[in-house]
Amino acid sequence: MANAVPKHIGIIMDGNGRWAQKKHLPRVMGHRQGARTLDKLLNDAKGLGVEHITVYAFSTENWKRAEEEVSGIMGILREYINKYFREYANSDFRVDSVGDLSALSEDLQADIARLKDVSKDRTGIHLTIAMNYGSRDEIKRAVQKIACEVKEGKLDIPDITEELISEHLDSAGTPDPELIIRTSGELRTSNFLLWQSAYSEYYITDKLWPDFTIEDLKDAISVYQSRDRRFGGRNEVVK
Ligand code: IPE
Ligand code: IPE
Ligand code: MG
Repeated sequence: MANAVPKHIGIIMDGNGRWAQKKHLPRVMGHRQGARTLDKLLNDAKGLGVEHITVYAFSTENWKRAEEEVSGIMGILREYINKYFREYANSDFRVDSVGDLSALSEDLQADIARLKDVSKDRTGIHLTIAMNYGSRDEIKRAVQKIACEVKEGKLDIPDITEELISEHLDSAGTPDPELIIRTSGELRTSNFLLWQSAYSEYYITDKLWPDFTIEDLKDAISVYQSRDRRFGGRNEVVK
């Protein structure tokens, strides 16, 4: 039997730079087009039955890039956070973030906080933007929080269960993604949702992120639906 439509999809939006390069444009133009692609996709994805979408916008490793590119990406992030605040005032998107926001500019942090707050009670698609996000950093911060609670006597060592660890991650409260999409053909996770994706299905496409459309999303969902998810067990009848 086909799997149901995934409730949570993670997207590694990769290939903005290559898209720009192919068109002899500066890399930042690729990021700008990538932001437009996401904007359109989110609107087109309404009604598919997907409840949560987590998009990888900027990793803890992306600071290694040229200052010009980093500030270009930060500018686009701020522009879109504000656009969502203005234009989505009457929409039903709930916006969230994962990642260590403390490294972002104070203006951007304030804009994100304002958008989260205004959208927190909405019931439409729950969009989580991964900014200055790295799974290892997220897990490290969760371990630090748990260690503090143990030290303060609020927790005992046997209380540290898999569920408790999940509840201390930035993604607490959001179910694990059933499907993770990566554009641009790279066969790696690049530090995205490592804990949460233990049993996610991966879908990799060669399409560059700025070229990704709702049809590509539907293809990814239908490939996911045809996968045999065994979770370590066996689905077939033993002969
Ligand atoms: C993904 O596109 C966006 C970010 C990492 C911020 P890239 O900029 O990595 O594009 P490529 O991989 O160089 O083509
Ligand atoms: C992953 O893409 C991060 C984002 C899409 C934000 P990268 O382009 O940074 O990943 P690598 O360097 O190819 O692993
Ligand atoms: Mg890349």
